[in-house]
Order: sequence, then C-alpha cells, then structure tokens
Amino acid sequence: MPESANRAIPGPCDETRVVLEARGVSKCYHLGEVEVHALRGVDLSICEGRMLSLMGPSGSGKSTLMHIIGLLDRPSEGSVIVESEEVSAMAPNELAAVRNRRIGFVFQSFNLLSRTTALANVELPLVYAGVSGTERSRRARAALERVGLGDRMGHLPNQLSGGQQQRVAIARALVTEPSIVLADEPTGNLDSVSGVDVMTILQDLNAHGITVVLVTHDDTVARHAERIVRLRDGRVVADDPVADRIWAADRRDEVVEEAGGVQA
Ligand SMILES: Nc1ncnc2c1ncn2[C@@H]1O[C@H](COP(=O)(O)OP(=O)(O)OP(=O)(O)O)[C@@H](O)[C@H]1O
Ligand SMILES: [Mg+2]
Repeated sequence: MPESANRAIPGPCDETRVVLEARGVSKCYHLGEVEVHALRGVDLSICEGRMLSLMGPSGSGKSTLMHIIGLLDRPSEGSVIVESEEVSAMAPNELAAVRNRRIGFVFQSFNLLSRTTALANVELPLVYAGVSGTERSRRARAALERVGLGDRMGHLPNQLSGGQQQRVAIARALVTEPSIVLADEPTGNLDSVSGVDVMTILQDLNAHGITVVLVTHDDTVARHAERIVRLRDGRVVADDPVADRIWAADRRDEVVEEAGGVQA
C-alpha cells in the first residue's frame, strides 16, 4: 500500500494552474417531447494537483458533469477547457486523444472485463494507445504494484474482492499516466475497510501531483478532499474549503476495528 500522503497545505492557485475548467456548462437531454435539464450553467475551475469532492442529491447532475469535464460527453452549451485547450469544438478523435492522454476514470461499478486477468485489464488502455507488448506488461505491473496488488495480477475479477477490483480499476486509470483522475462514487460499492484503502490510494496519487475529482454521497468520504462543491438541480450551490480534512491512512486501524477486526 502507498505511504501516507504529503500533507503540505497547498499554496494559492492562480489562473495559470487551472487544469480543468467548465464555463457556463449546460446539458439538456431530449427524451421525446420532454427536456431534462441536467446541468444549468455550471462554472467550475480546478487547479493543478488539487483534490475536490462533488456532492449533491441523486439527479443533481454530478455524473453528467463528470462525463462532460472528462470528455466522455459534450455540453449543450458552454465550454470545457483541459490544460489550456478549449475542447468543445474538437472532433471526436481529437477529443479522445486529449482524454486518453490526460484523464483516468474510476467508476462505482469498476467496469472490468470479467474473463480477463487483472494484468490484462490494466494493460487494455495501452493496447488502445498502441504501446508494445513488453512495455505494456511492464507498466501494467508497476500500476498494480502501486495499488498493492502485485500478488494478484493473474486473478480474474470474480477471484478478487470488491476493494481489490476497485484497485485494479484505479491501476487501469493510472497506467496511461494521466494528470487528472475522475472518480464517480469510487467507494459506493465497497465495505468500509476497502473504502478507506481506496481513499488512501486517491490521496496518495494527489500527493504525487495528480488532480483528483471525486463524486460521493458520503460526507466523510467528501472530507478527504480539500474542497467540496455542491450541486443541486444542475447548479453549483456551494463551493467551500474543507476545514477538517480527513486522512484515510490515519483512519484505517479505527475502521478495521469498527468492522470487527477483519483486515483485507
Ligand atoms: N442519458 C440521459 N438521458 C436523459 N436524461 C438523463 C441522462 N443522463 C442523466 N439524465 C438525467 O439528468 C439528471 C442528472 O443525472 P446525473 O446522472 O448527472 O445525476 P447524479 O447527480 O449523478 O445522480 P446520482 O447521485 O443518482 O448518481 C437526472 O435527472 C437524470 O435523470
Ligand atoms: Mg451519478
């Protein structure tokens, strides 16, 4: 497992260090006659190397916003800027190139290929990127080691616990060396100990300079970030620093004890 995160208080963020920005982003889905306004004019700037939690009731637009800032979907209005590149007008192949180079995704449901080993799952993004076989294997092994799964590389997803599967998914997100990791409810399907382990990894990545955006319904999970943005009905209704930030590595013993002393 990674060592505990660097806890230096981040310095001020000026405009030159904004890595991800949504400007006036709206998203309207048309379902027959019905229009669903999932986002209504969202402005959000995220600085390099920061960690942010996105909260809000079900249906408030969190996943829609993650998909748009992660370049998996386009806004109906407004623009998205990734590392100074305005991406709204890009062609699909250009968009995919920026996404593959810069952004790693982690989802609540892991999204691993079921008949494929942990190692091959992690190699997959490199197959798409055209990386050679030996190099793929080397990098995928290193990513799995980084999330503490060096001894599970040949396992299929159903031979791994939920927490281990989520760590494989994190390794898969990391293997392309993204500068931004977007995680949509990464602990939503996990037991408390596995959840702490996933948060330890995300804080460790952040301590190594990776920008992390995390969606969660859980107030404790949200406080692992340094800033919490709240959405309601497709709008940003609050944007606050976290005064009492939680460090996952510090909580593990306590959480293991609460869970009945079972170590993953
Ligand atoms: N593909 C789609 N087509 C039509 N409507 C959609 C689509 N995706 C999302 N929506 C609607 O947009 C709104 C925002 O959905 P979104 O998935 O972003 O919410 P969320 O905040 O992530 O909720 P949850 O916490 O339940 O995951 C919802 O009203 C949803 O029904
Ligand atoms: Mg969602």
